[in-house]
Amino acid sequence: MSDAAVTIFAVSEKQTQKLGQALAGLISKGDIVLLNGGLGAGKSLLARAMIRKILNQPGLEIPSPSFPLVLPYEGKGEKADWSVLHADIFRFEKQEELEELGLFDNPETVVVVEWAERAPMLNNMAHLTVSLDIPASGEGRLIRVTSSSRAQDLAKVAAEFPAAP
Ligand SMILES: Nc1ncnc2c1ncn2[C@@H]1O[C@H](COP(=O)(O)OP(=O)(O)OP(=O)(O)O)[C@@H](O)[C@H]1O
Ligand SMILES: [Mg+2]
Repeated sequence: MSDAAVTIFAVSEKQTQKLGQALAGLISKGDIVLLNGGLGAGKSLLARAMIRKILNQPGLEIPSPSFPLVLPYEGKGEKADWSVLHADIFRFEKQEELEELGLFDNPETVVVVEWAERAPMLNNMAHLTVSLDIPASGEGRLIRVTSSSRAQDLAKVAAEFPAAP
C-alpha cells in the first residue's frame, strides 16, 4: 500500500504536543511509531504527549530512555488497556542490539522509537513515521507524518494544523 504523507507546521511547543495527542488517536495495538529528527527537534516532546494520551494519564512522568534504552508503560486508555514501549536508539550500532532490546516481543505492544533513522531496517515495520525538522529561521518545527495504513485519519489530523509554509 502506498504511504499517505502530510506536513504540518507546529508554531510552538504546544502545537508539537497537540500533534502528538492527535496522532495518539490513530494508534492501534501493536503499532510501531518511528520518530526521526536531529538533536532538539522535538521527538521526546511529541513522544511524551502521544504516550500520555494513549494511556489517558496527562501527568505521567516520562523520562528520556537513555539507560536503559527502553522504558515500558501500561495503563487503561479511553478504549482499551495498553502497553507501550518507549525507546531511544541514539546509540544504536548493530542489528543484534535491536533484537536484544526485545522491542517486538509482544505483538500487542505499541512501540515508540526515537532516533529511528539509526536503524533503517525499522522502516518497513512502521505504521506511523514522524519526521521533525527545525526550519532555517529556528522558529517552530516542520513535522512530516507518513502512514502506510491510516491515510484518511491522517488527513483529518493534518486539517487541524497550519500547512507547512
Ligand atoms: N514546535 C516547536 N516550536 C518551538 N520549540 C519546540 C517545538 N517543538 C519542540 N520544541 C522544543 O525543542 C526542544 C527539544 O525538544 P525535545 O527534547 O523533544 O527534542 P528531541 O528531538 O528529543 O532531542 P534529542 O534527540 O536531543 O533528545 C524542547 O525545548 C522543546 O520544547
Ligand atoms: Mg529526546
